[in-house]
Amino acid sequence: MYKYDHIDQTLVDERVAQFRDQVARRLDGSLPEEEFRPLRLQNGLYYQRHAYMLRVAIPYGLLSAKQLRTLALIADKHDRGYGHFTTRQNIQFNWIELEKTPEILAELAQVEMHAIQTSGNCIRNITSDAFAGVADDEYVDPRPICELLRQWSTLHPEFAYLPRKFKFAINGAKEDRTVLLCHDVGIELKKDPNVQDGALTADIYAGGGMGRTPILGSLIKKNVPWQLLPSYLTALLRVYNRFGRRDNIYKARIKILVKALGPEEFSRQVESEWAQLHSKEAPSKDNFTQAEWNRVAQHFTRPSYKNLPALTRAELQSFVEPKLDANERVAFTRWLERNLRPHQVPGYASVVLSLKPHGTAAPGDATSAQMNAIADLAEQYSFGELRVTHEQNLVLADVEQTELLHLWRAAKNHNLVLSNIGLLTDIIACPGGDFCSLANAKSLPIAKAIQERFDDLDYLHDLRDITLNISGCINSCGHHHVGNIGVLGVDKDGEEWYQITLGGEQGNQASIGKVIGPSFGANEIPDVVASLINTYVEHRTEDELFIETYRRLGMDAFKEPAYRNSRSKDKQKVDQKNSV
Ligand code: HEM
Ligand code: SF4
Repeated sequence: MYKYDHIDQTLVDERVAQFRDQVARRLDGSLPEEEFRPLRLQNGLYYQRHAYMLRVAIPYGLLSAKQLRTLALIADKHDRGYGHFTTRQNIQFNWIELEKTPEILAELAQVEMHAIQTSGNCIRNITSDAFAGVADDEYVDPRPICELLRQWSTLHPEFAYLPRKFKFAINGAKEDRTVLLCHDVGIELKKDPNVQDGALTADIYAGGGMGRTPILGSLIKKNVPWQLLPSYLTALLRVYNRFGRRDNIYKARIKILVKALGPEEFSRQVESEWAQLHSKEAPSKDNFTQAEWNRVAQHFTRPSYKNLPALTRAELQSFVEPKLDANERVAFTRWLERNLRPHQVPGYASVVLSLKPHGTAAPGDATSAQMNAIADLAEQYSFGELRVTHEQNLVLADVEQTELLHLWRAAKNHNLVLSNIGLLTDIIACPGGDFCSLANAKSLPIAKAIQERFDDLDYLHDLRDITLNISGCINSCGHHHVGNIGVLGVDKDGEEWYQITLGGEQGNQASIGKVIGPSFGANEIPDVVASLINTYVEHRTEDELFIETYRRLGMDAFKEPAYRNSRSKDKQKVDQKNSV
């Protein structure tokens, strides 16, 4: 885990002091709201429907137990006892009092955390694979590069005021677990097997994003040596900074520029800008050096793993079998099946703790009691660290296989072991109308209603992998475009309606879902989802997943049954108004 040095710590401490002064001036009235607004947003402080919301960055999703305890403390002292983990490896607190924010930022700074650049038209939190460093399909551990780029992008003077916010994701594994193609820039790290010691290079994708105009990123440049990333990315951002549209907020993201120019022309412009910044004869002084790599990479060395035998699933099962009582047998076996990922090191597994208990809290919410319990579990079972997933769950990355049963029993006491990872009820959802002032409709009650309707774990396991994502408005914070089933809240004369998309997918086969037709009323959604699932069950061939059946059959096979009993047939207007 990266440890702040003097430079990092000074930077966050100074920001706290500045913000303390700004808040004091706001409170005594000497700083008007319109002047304070950009200052608070630079520290991740939004004003939402009911209160201030603070968004705290969790760079590349990595947290220490100590940091999580601080987040729990903040939830208790300054919020209502919980926090919301988001799709971009942040945590949001929804009930913050302005007076308390300097104190909160000071508490965060003590554990090497902050909220800088979690808002505004700058480079946002850099996200990565929640299984970085342990995944069995990894080419390269992306975390040193993530950290180097975090430092490079933090308070970068040239990129503090881009046309729009800018999001990086970095992946180093065969499977993309970062939604790489939905980011402004996606960096895919590779090690060249033909080169001795493997030269580390990056393929750069640009112009992905969701929101009003969902677009998947295009490959802009292959094989950028890791050392040259700062100069290459500077060139790319400069092209965006100069030519990105500032006249129209809906057309300001880099995806619109890349689309307008075409990826080839965009790439050519970046190349020409890069040539000004860097050449063999005159290398850019911004580039990373081996010394910097060494400084950062030493924090991501392997923890002291034991020398253990690797257990197959069958061996693991027979190891735990005698220790399980009758009540535990089915639940534990299911959990092994859904909530574990294979590990690079023999005898270890990575465990996903579900933050999606059926029908209770909002997807991604964790109470302070849960956070404290997870911190204890991380210390006891996973070298004191954990990770935040893009799907709004938490991961203990380094659990000894023979400890899994103990861990499961301990985590069960805190409602963290539902075996629904990757299943229909592992819903990604934004805060929607319950909290967000931009919302057209609520997201959380829809997620709850679906979870309540599909509460039967036997059935869910039989349905296998299906993603269902919900956003409360077109901004797509809940990533509905890349859900196999997407739910988007739309507004019709003050009434909340929901538009369904089908066929979205994240990962290597990323695709954007298509709208099924007119929107549905809130109370229809569980029935509509049931109808979509029934169509799948009726038509699937053996081993076919929902998305595969959808691709084989096409939209119409799902559409007709979904609308059979719907009252939404005459609501086309809603969809025209909000069409994506
Ligand atoms: C209540 C606080 C929030 C506000 C005010 C907010 C605001 C926005 C806005 C305005 C956009 C559209 C940007 C554009 O199209 O240029 C957006 C997109 C996005 N937000 Fe949020 N958001 C909030 C919460 C969240 C949460 C909780 C998550 C994670 C669950 C999230 C993650 C994202 C993501 C991933 C996008 C995707 C679109 C993209 O970048 O291509 N946001 N948000
Ligand atoms: S999708 Fe819309 S409603 Fe949901 S958090 Fe984002 S801005 Fe708010």
